[in-house]
Amino acid sequence: MTAQTIAAHGGTLINRLVTGRRREELLGQARELNQVKINTWAISDLDLIGVGAFSPLTGFMAEEDYKSVVDTMRLANGLVWSIPITLGVKPEVAAQLKIGERIALVGEEDGVVYAIMDVTSIYEADQKYEAVKVFKTDETAHPGVQKLYSKPSTYIGGPVEVLNRPKPAKFEEFYFTPEQTRAIFAEKGWKTVVGFQTRNPVHRAHEYIQKSAMEIVDGLFLNPLVGETKSDDVPANVRMKSYLVLLENYYPKDRVFLGVFPAAMRYAGPREAIFHAMVRKNYGCTHFIVGRDHAGVGDYYGTYEAQQIFSNFTKEELGITPLFFEHSFFCKKCGNMASSKTCPHDKSEHVHLSGTKVRELLRSGQCPPPEFSRPEVAKILIEGMAETASALQQ
Ligand code: ADX
Repeated sequence: MTAQTIAAHGGTLINRLVTGRRREELLGQARELNQVKINTWAISDLDLIGVGAFSPLTGFMAEEDYKSVVDTMRLANGLVWSIPITLGVKPEVAAQLKIGERIALVGEEDGVVYAIMDVTSIYEADQKYEAVKVFKTDETAHPGVQKLYSKPSTYIGGPVEVLNRPKPAKFEEFYFTPEQTRAIFAEKGWKTVVGFQTRNPVHRAHEYIQKSAMEIVDGLFLNPLVGETKSDDVPANVRMKSYLVLLENYYPKDRVFLGVFPAAMRYAGPREAIFHAMVRKNYGCTHFIVGRDHAGVGDYYGTYEAQQIFSNFTKEELGITPLFFEHSFFCKKCGNMASSKTCPHDKSEHVHLSGTKVRELLRSGQCPPPEFSRPEVAKILIEGMAETASALQQ
């Protein structure tokens, strides 16, 4: 199997972007339709549906798919899918809509007509049940649950035709559609490509697992998530600068490709790991890295739960090979990066820093040790933290 030919999830790479005459026609029609306001999160889901990153989805989920995904981690047709992709609307808005109606989806802040949707389903979601199934908790302290509860519980589903795409404020040159990444990987001659998801700066542990994977595949697709994240995660713009400086100094140029994943972070741990893998398959990856506590938050998930969940599915059903990595660290005695699989030494020899500790150091302008983070990366993060702090004070 080659990156050029790896099948999209479900067999066909979806494209719901409408251009040219048809787009003009639909934009004209949109003026006559009921307009439903959508927020940034929904716009990002919509765009990912449009470009086929969420193949085989052609729109927001109808009730049958939603229920099936929540209960069984599969779409109603049996295909693996672990995260509901839904559009919540206020009950008074839903009351105006009818099944079979065409509506216009309009950005609530910018008034842009992003898409036309054929409403095939209007339903009431049990969000508490959804939370427990998807996030394994209904505690509002969980950022994903909090976000879910902030959304109306009346969902509408149906296929979409995307007329306008959100314009990135920065780093536009790193936005690619799955069709583009597939073409790029093929052009580079990469037969095997490993995808790496991250919502953090790339520290030495990330670098270690990426490079371990790079030893067995042709290329790395560094695919940081840049959609909505929780407020204490490092902002995407700062992270982008840190990835660039890291790649410049420590990675072979012809073996890495950087492109962003403009999705919102769900923090759904194991279920999100499956979702992340399916989406990276759509971008043309043959392999996907899952390390410790992938997409986790707090203590909600076991360290390796996001790896174990893959055993619920066959290789054929997944269609992408997950590469699992143990918790990695720098060992002073070994003098290199390692994991419990490769290092015999006592924990006291390992360089361990909590996220809170790292943030504390960076905020006070100090670099974490080079065994934890490359100095070039730490410098960007310190500058970024200072800029964010001064912007907040203004
Ligand atoms: S995530 O929420 O986007 O998954 P993060 O950016 O921290 O979080 O992690 C990106 C990937 O690196 C995930 O697959 C995660 O499991 C893995 N990872 C992060 N830190 C380590 C570590 N110290 N050892 C092994 N894997 C790690």
